[in-house]
Amino acid sequence: MMTTRIIGTGSALPKKTLTNDELSQIMDTSDEWIRTRTGIVSRHVADEEETAATLAAEAGRRAIDNAGMKPEDIELVLVATCSAENYFPSVGCQVQDILGLKNAAAMDISAACSGFLFALNTAHAYILSGLYEKILVIGTETLSRTIDWTDRSTCVLFGDGAGACVVRSDEEGIIGISQHSDGTQGGVLTSFAPSLETPLAAAAPGSPLYMEGQAVFKFAVKTVPECIRQVLEDNHTEVEDVKYFVLHQANSRIIQSVAKRLKADEEKFPMNLDKCGNTSAASIPILLDEMNRSNKLGRGDLLVLSGFGAGLTWGAALLRW
Ligand code: ACO
Repeated sequence: MMTTRIIGTGSALPKKTLTNDELSQIMDTSDEWIRTRTGIVSRHVADEEETAATLAAEAGRRAIDNAGMKPEDIELVLVATCSAENYFPSVGCQVQDILGLKNAAAMDISAACSGFLFALNTAHAYILSGLYEKILVIGTETLSRTIDWTDRSTCVLFGDGAGACVVRSDEEGIIGISQHSDGTQGGVLTSFAPSLETPLAAAAPGSPLYMEGQAVFKFAVKTVPECIRQVLEDNHTEVEDVKYFVLHQANSRIIQSVAKRLKADEEKFPMNLDKCGNTSAASIPILLDEMNRSNKLGRGDLLVLSGFGAGLTWGAALLRW
C-alpha cells in the first residue's frame, strides 16, 4: 500500500527581526508581558523586497535541493497562505515561475494557521489517487502586512516566513491524517480584504486581523488534543510511541497545555516561537525544517503534526519519518 512521504524540507525567514524590546519602544507593551503570555521573544518581519511568494520560492528551492530532486521533477505545487500580497496570480504560480517548475500545476490553499496541514492532506489525496507522485507543499505568510500595528493585543504575536516540504509516493510516510472546520465560529478570528466601489455597491474599507484571543486559546487547548488522540486511536498508536509532536507555533502556553492534556513529556513538543512568533501556515514546516537540518529526525521516527487557526480550522497527521 503506497502512501505519502516527506523527503525534503526547506525554510526561509525574512532578513530583519523585531524583538519584544524593540516593540516596547514603539507601543505600550513589554518583553515581560509578551514572553510570559506567549513565549515569543523576537520575530522576523518582511522588508519591501520580501513577499509571501519570494519567501515561499526560497523555502521551496531549499526543499527541492534537500530532497535531491530537480525543479522539473515537481508535478504539483500547493501553497498554503492567508496573507499573499496579491489575489492572483496565485503564490503557487509565482513560485513555479521563480523556480522554473515547468512540469508543475500550481495553486493556493486558504486555511489560515491550519493551512500547511490542509495542503499536506490535499497532496496526500492526490498521491493516493495516483494523479501525481511528487508534490511541493509550502506554507508561507507575510502577516505583518495584514495586522494593525497599533493593536498591541495582536501585532506582537505574528511573524513572517515560509516553510516547505517535498512529498512523494512511498511505502512509508503518512499513516493517518484528519482535517476539520467549523465556519460557525469564524467571527473569533477575522481579516477582511478591502474592495473598490462598484456601480452597485460602495467600497468596503477592509479590516486588519481581529482576534478574540481567549476564545481561540480555549478552542485550541480543547480541539488539538482531541484530534491528536483521535488520529492516534484510529491508527492503534499510543502517545508514548510518538517521538515528536510538531504543533502550530501560536503560543507556548497552548503547546504546554496540549502536552499536559495528552499526558506527554513536554520535551516531545519542540518549539521555535521564541524566535519566529506565530507564522501561521508556515510554522509547522519551518519547525520541521529546523529539526530535519539539526538531525533531530531519524528514519522511522513517528511524528504527529497538528495545526489550528482561523476558520475555525484544525487537524492532525500521524506519520513515519
Ligand atoms: N502588552 C501588554 N499588555 C497587553 C498586550 C501587550 N502586547 N496585549 C494585551 N494586553 C493587556 C490587555 O489590554 C489586558 O489588559 P486589562 O486586563 O487591563 O484589560 C491584559 O493584557 C490581558 O489581556 P488578555 O487578552 O486577557 O490576555 P491573555 O492572557 O488572554 O493573552 C493572548 C492574550 C496571548 C492573545 C492569548 O489569548 C492567546 O494566545 N490566544 C490564542 C491565540 C492563537 O493561538 N491564535 C492562533 C491562531 S492565529 C491564525 O489562525 C491567523
